[in-house]
Amino acid sequence: MTDRTSLYVHIPFCVVKCGYCDFNSYAIEDPAAHRRFVSALDRELRTARPPRNPWTVFLGGGTPTYLTDESFARLFEVLTSHIDLAECQEVSMEANPESVSATKATIARQAGVDRISLGVQSFDPARLRFLDRAHDVAAVERAVSVFRDAGFSNLSLDLMFGLPGQTLPQWTSDLERALELRPDHISCYNLTFEPGTRLEHARRQGKVQPNDDRVDAELFQWTRRRLRDGGYEAYEISNFAGRGGPCLHNDHYWLQGDYVGVGPGASSHRAGWRGTNAKPLEAWAGAVERGLSGTAEAEFLTPSQRLGEALWLGLRRRDGIDLDALRERLRIDLDPNRDALIESMVEQGHLRRDGTTIRLAESSLLQADRIAAEFL
Ligand SMILES: C[S@@+](CC[C@H](N)C(=O)[O-])C[C@H]1O[C@@H](n2cnc3c(N)ncnc32)[C@H](O)[C@@H]1O
Ligand code: SF4
Repeated sequence: MTDRTSLYVHIPFCVVKCGYCDFNSYAIEDPAAHRRFVSALDRELRTARPPRNPWTVFLGGGTPTYLTDESFARLFEVLTSHIDLAECQEVSMEANPESVSATKATIARQAGVDRISLGVQSFDPARLRFLDRAHDVAAVERAVSVFRDAGFSNLSLDLMFGLPGQTLPQWTSDLERALELRPDHISCYNLTFEPGTRLEHARRQGKVQPNDDRVDAELFQWTRRRLRDGGYEAYEISNFAGRGGPCLHNDHYWLQGDYVGVGPGASSHRAGWRGTNAKPLEAWAGAVERGLSGTAEAEFLTPSQRLGEALWLGLRRRDGIDLDALRERLRIDLDPNRDALIESMVEQGHLRRDGTTIRLAESSLLQADRIAAEFL
């Protein structure tokens, strides 16, 4: 029987730290650091005790495929000694084109990984350079062939749009090139200027200008039309399901399911308890090597906070939020403030109400983060 708890495994290493990225990742090449990371992960899996058969597993990062060959192979020995990957509903792994090899693809496939999310971002050499990406277009095509040859039938591509100065014809060309590779799922992220990143620093210094909001809205609307016509279902603002269906792991997360997170900076959630691991390799590995928990911070979310987060996460999904089902699940009524906020957003046309379900209006999808944040 599959447990309804999922497992997230964070692999923090990357060949370069991209200027726009605020995920917990660092450019560490040292094979000894990779070995130490995998051993510490083994220790953490012993103490964190995720279920033997999680609902879904997601190996993310960072760049899982950047691990040295030796550590990559060891990672899957460790994982399969704790987890029956073959029993999970979905086992996803993120990959970057420059570090994909037939050996790694075969190891992952044989261990039970059945879904790949490949970070492509763009097919334009100048935009890849702007994003600090370590790969070229040929590496993307090579990586797709390698994964297909290794037997992966569920392959997703990550793209980014709304880069400074990007026009509709430029973005059209990127997305069309991606579609030629016949991915089973596509994620299209609108570039965000995250606090603390080099990109945000450059913006503050006036060295880069964010793209015009109206142009981004045009790119986004075109994306939705083009992917719908191509047979991809927009089940979440940035995510489009083709033959591979939606990403079950991310859907589980957006629906506030329980999950155990291992690796530096990973968070875990169980019925309103949320813990987050230490982010630096040394702090996290040092703790778990001493037999301690990797958790550096923990909090119990109040029912009201959980409600706010459910609204925030749920509004990104096409299915929206069934308020009655939400009340039942969290055993809490909507407070008068949030009730009034929903009313006013329906009046302003940001939200649509359909029986007990609320959804973001099509015209407000791109402002989801700002609108949803008001419920927190
Ligand atoms: C954190 S990355 C990990 C996967 C892999 N290392 C990669 O670079 O593709 C997951 C995805 O998030 C997206 N992403 C990261 N930072 C972003 C940002 N500031 N704005 C928009 N999308 C972003 C990228 O499309 C990336 O593929
Ligand atoms: S976007 Fe991916 S490759 Fe770039 S730094 Fe972030 S996690 Fe690493």
